[in-house]
Amino acid sequence: MATSYKELGLVNTREMFAKAVKGGYAIPAFNFNTMEQMQAIVMAAVETKSPVIMQVSKGARNYANGTILRNLAKGAVEYAKELGCEHPEIVLHLDHGDTFELCKDCIDNGFSSVMIDGSSLPYEENIALTKKVVDYAHKYDVTVEAELGVLAGVEDEVASEESHYTKPEEVIDFATRTGCDSLAISIGTSHGAHKFKPEQCKLVNGVLVPPPLAFDVLHEIEKKLPGFPIVLHGSSSVPQEEVKTINQYGGKLEAAIGIPEEQLREAAKSAVCKINIDSDSRLAMTAAIRKYLAENPSHFDPRQYLKPARENMKKMYIHKIVNVLGSDNKLSK
Ligand code: G3H
Ligand code: 13P
Ligand code: ZN
Repeated sequence: MATSYKELGLVNTREMFAKAVKGGYAIPAFNFNTMEQMQAIVMAAVETKSPVIMQVSKGARNYANGTILRNLAKGAVEYAKELGCEHPEIVLHLDHGDTFELCKDCIDNGFSSVMIDGSSLPYEENIALTKKVVDYAHKYDVTVEAELGVLAGVEDEVASEESHYTKPEEVIDFATRTGCDSLAISIGTSHGAHKFKPEQCKLVNGVLVPPPLAFDVLHEIEKKLPGFPIVLHGSSSVPQEEVKTINQYGGKLEAAIGIPEEQLREAAKSAVCKINIDSDSRLAMTAAIRKYLAENPSHFDPRQYLKPARENMKKMYIHKIVNVLGSDNKLSK
């Protein structure tokens, strides 16, 4: 039997995106695969009074099971209330859905928002698939994120490491014909912890600074679709202190470079109203666990090392919300 997200106390993205575009801030979209990530996300959102998108990838469903993740999200709403937030605004979102069937399964089972990622398809096929998902989702008041343009990394396995920026001249036609609620664009971000090669960066005061995002492309898109919600994937900043901790305690992460936070702050002031962060959470968790186990080699109770991991993720989420995206104190009630 189908479960509506409304029964779980979740919300879709429509109102929160409209407010975010107007208000010049972005909603954090944090990926989660484990209970500890869910707890850290909820604690951070409650403490900062921020709306939040909890997103589940296909990989997360394979790892943790879709039913368990859905129930964690239901638990997230109740947990937020228990922590003192009377009216939490939590979205359960499918990240990078690649088929109609997967999106339908999520819509039928408690998700309030889905992404259909047809960005690797030819343009007309992306439109047809996205429209099919939108038509189904809107019957249940579920919102749909689509994508135009290709990010380097996981989405571009076939070709080179190069990304293909979104073509501003396509966005009006795409948004009108698909009816999507938000659009993920490619302007130079990419997935994972290795977004740039050191040779692409400039050395400024001992820090490798990557090339700036294509703000000209973003502004062109904003002009074509005024007020339309834009999404940035691949927006982890890869904090160098976490990379350093990981390497100090036995890890081997080389040339891990992310998107500078000032650039995300600038993007959040525009029509970019959803910023996706996954890798930074992985780094925060791994750094804390490596450090804890190195300093306490005789400990073996997972609660002992998962507790500092959860704390470190929570700290990172709060930092993103308050200092980068500006979504703190933006709950409607
Ligand atoms: O966009 C990719 C997200 O970081 C999810 O990654 O597919 O390894 O869960 P995943
Ligand atoms: P990062 O790998 O930069 O965290 O991007 C995550 C993402 O875009 C999830 O869809
Ligand atoms: Zn993504």
